[in-house]
Amino acid sequence: MRVGVLTGGGDCPGLNAVIRAVVRKGVKEHGFDFVGYRDGWRGPLEGVTMELGIEQCRGILPRGGTILGSSRTNPFKLDNGVERIKDNLAKDGVDALVAIGGEDTLGVATRLADLGVNVVGVPKTIDNDLSGTDFTFGFDTAVNIATEAIDRLHTTAESHHRVLVVEVMGRHAGWIALHSGIAGGANIVLIPEQPFDIIEVCELIESRFESRYAPILVVSEGAVPREGGDMTLVSGDLDDFGHVRLGGIGDRIAKEIETRTGKEARAVVLGHIQRGGTPTAFDRWLATRFGLQAIDAVAEGDFGTMMALRGTDIVRVPLIEGTGELKLVSVKEYAEAQVFFG
Ligand code: F6P
Repeated sequence: MRVGVLTGGGDCPGLNAVIRAVVRKGVKEHGFDFVGYRDGWRGPLEGVTMELGIEQCRGILPRGGTILGSSRTNPFKLDNGVERIKDNLAKDGVDALVAIGGEDTLGVATRLADLGVNVVGVPKTIDNDLSGTDFTFGFDTAVNIATEAIDRLHTTAESHHRVLVVEVMGRHAGWIALHSGIAGGANIVLIPEQPFDIIEVCELIESRFESRYAPILVVSEGAVPREGGDMTLVSGDLDDFGHVRLGGIGDRIAKEIETRTGKEARAVVLGHIQRGGTPTAFDRWLATRFGLQAIDAVAEGDFGTMMALRGTDIVRVPLIEGTGELKLVSVKEYAEAQVFFG
């Protein structure tokens, strides 16, 4: 059997670990050969391939990014996109595809599976917002990077008696903010799922200063104020999947805090640092196990499925279970962080 592999959407640490596991087990145990599709769905759409075998996967386990490249190409936005993909897969002699991606890439995989393409999905995203799986890989690395940043910001905030506002990624989900905020001992965590009241935020800031410590506020890029609440955008331009670019809420909040409390505040935007570099051991472990399970699913003809972590088991769920709706932070989970506010 000949298997195509692609990585789509925003990159994240651990993608190479999946590719390596898929290829290693595919070659050694199933006798498959592989073709790498470049830059997400653009690869099969335009027939852009690269050689992919055990040789190309040497040394890539600890490397961030993806050797296949990535893009946010949506074949359903293009005329004859699906036909072009089917034609290219047939031309390349590809019997099955392993698609590694988040909500958008696996959303395309879900629709293609319904249209008869043999595809299995592997869930990745630093945002951890895919349903059906306890965690996506990439998330743990992002949380560790954000936590280290928070640890460092505590000391400079204290030295200058300042408020430090840390803006993290996550789009519509507050998982990175919540986990890094708890791990880093933040005094306030603001997430998209729970619109915030700036007056309450300032009260918490003042109470933290009263205890003679400097406050650290972690804010998710998609957080919205309760009054007049719009998400803060870097740009209103939409990508192929209809997403705007979020960013700027940290700076907005820092300015409001200065105006309302008279305390000095600084905003730090962690941005793509959260997505770059080497994956944590947990992400390598999870990505590798997803890859091993994905190639077994291909071997068994179990198409239209997504690999998922349930407890410590890797299981297969229908792709739609992962992509049907976003996994968001619940009120109960947020309440755990609130105990430490102020
Ligand atoms: O989905 C991953 C993510 O990093 C989001 O957290 C963020 O909003 C978005 O991608 C940024 O996208 P880009 O890399 O296209 O700026």
